[in-house]
Amino acid sequence: MRSIPGIIYLLIISVIVISCKHEPEEKLITDPTDPGDTTSNGITCNPDTAYFQNDVLPILISGCGMSGCHDATSAQEGVVLTSYQSVMNTAGISPGNPNGSELYEKITDDDPEDRMPPPPMAALSTDQLLTIRKWIEQGAKNNYCDAGCDTNNYAYASAIEPLINTYCKGCHNAAQASGGIRLDTYAAVKSAADNGSLYGAISHQQGYSPMPQGGNKLSECNITQVRKWIANGAPDN
Ligand code: HEC
Repeated sequence: MRSIPGIIYLLIISVIVISCKHEPEEKLITDPTDPGDTTSNGITCNPDTAYFQNDVLPILISGCGMSGCHDATSAQEGVVLTSYQSVMNTAGISPGNPNGSELYEKITDDDPEDRMPPPPMAALSTDQLLTIRKWIEQGAKNNYCDAGCDTNNYAYASAIEPLINTYCKGCHNAAQASGGIRLDTYAAVKSAADNGSLYGAISHQQGYSPMPQGGNKLSECNITQVRKWIANGAPDN
């Protein structure tokens, strides 16, 4: 080690520093028809970035893309909110300019007659609105990141509940209980776990409607977390 001059160490360290700085903070999907490989390992999520595939699409699918509303079949007002391509083609998005984007105007409209989702459905939450706003401000890209899913974390509060809130709750709550099923309380999720429909639906088993409806299948890691939680007795932990 001694025989290597200090200047070489300096060079090596600066090369490492420079290449780290150039590492992209997000992965872009250049083919707009690509549904997005949200299971891929790679780019770690940056908390300052809103990602279409991780953050925005699940809100749109479960808040707006249900059947009868903005899924590909119903396409109310010609608006389809189930993929990057359909959002960009039909929802009047002006990249960089949320206030000039039809989608953002609709979800923030003060008049309940015009607001989306319309009553009796609840308005999107403040957090959800901020996420969509940030995504448009940051250029409305088809980006995604690796959320660092860990199959060894399968506790209800830290793994299962957030997953269900993101991907399922918009279609399965008190105001919108699709299929007669609610997933907005522990007791409701536990009963779907106990009767087998929760796991059957997310693992796309025969005999169950594949969930999330209209969305990409959950990642293998997320499905494993749910399987382990159920095998552990589906506790409220
Ligand atoms: C876009 C709306 C929507 C989203 C998002 C959604 N669901 Fe559903 N879900 C439905 C509808 C509609 C039905 C009833 C119609 C059917 O069975 O096809 C249903 C039915 C179900 C059923 C009953 C399935 C069966 O065959 O017995 C379960 C369980 C379920 N959903 C769980 C989930 C879970 C878990 C998620 C999130 C990973 C989810 N859903 C996301 C709309 C949705």
